[in-house]
Amino acid sequence: MNTNPIIVALDFENVEEARALVARLGSEVDFYKVGMELYAAAGMPFVRELVREGKQVFLDLKFYDIGETVKRAVAQVARTGVRFLTIHGSNAVMRAAQEGRGGAPLKLLAVTVLTSYDREYLTYLGYPCGVSELVGLRARNAMAAGMDGLVCSPLDAAAVRKITGPDAIIVTPGVRSRSASKGDQKRVATPAEAIAAGANYIVIGREVTRASDPAEQVARVLEETKAGLTSTVFN
Ligand code: C5P
Repeated sequence: MNTNPIIVALDFENVEEARALVARLGSEVDFYKVGMELYAAAGMPFVRELVREGKQVFLDLKFYDIGETVKRAVAQVARTGVRFLTIHGSNAVMRAAQEGRGGAPLKLLAVTVLTSYDREYLTYLGYPCGVSELVGLRARNAMAAGMDGLVCSPLDAAAVRKITGPDAIIVTPGVRSRSASKGDQKRVATPAEAIAAGANYIVIGREVTRASDPAEQVARVLEETKAGLTSTVFN
């Protein structure tokens, strides 16, 4: 059972800054998200470095391509010891990802709907529904396609949890502790709200990475998550 649900997003433009934060956080944090920016800057060598240091890595590259390409790319990631990988919630892509993962312990998380999308944008894309309907559809499809879990807004987590049941891994970005500014985030929730809604993990970026004392900020967020813990069992 995991007692620390915090995943810190290493959204940095170079590997030195990422390394410095990981060193400053020390044993406070053992799970890091590497997204497109840092991946483009430092690639798999830095991901492997984190794994070697005993850190858990969430590789947030939101794979989306033809099945064969996804399958082969996921097979590569599966060999590295990465723990979570994001895949777009499109059926053929998810099934290919599952094939590529084979028997590796890598967990595949489907992206439901990007939180920057609203109904107007979905209409523009040709979807005849609102965001929450599409999130629900994607969550059902992800479970049917054998995904291990989903990434969703904390505001959708309760609805998603109802669809997935207790075993799926739900990861929510868009989390801000009570004391922090919302920044450019609109659909946010506090750590306690996200956990109480059914999230197993919360992704925290700038609130920690830009704090004057990142370790102290992590401790504060962790304290807040405890308020939401009563109804949740971590995967
Ligand atoms: O806003 P913050 O710096 O905490 O974001 C941390 C991470 O969460 C970022 O890497 C971003 O990709 C992800 N995120 C997201 N959806 C949002 C907000 C942030 O996936 N609505």
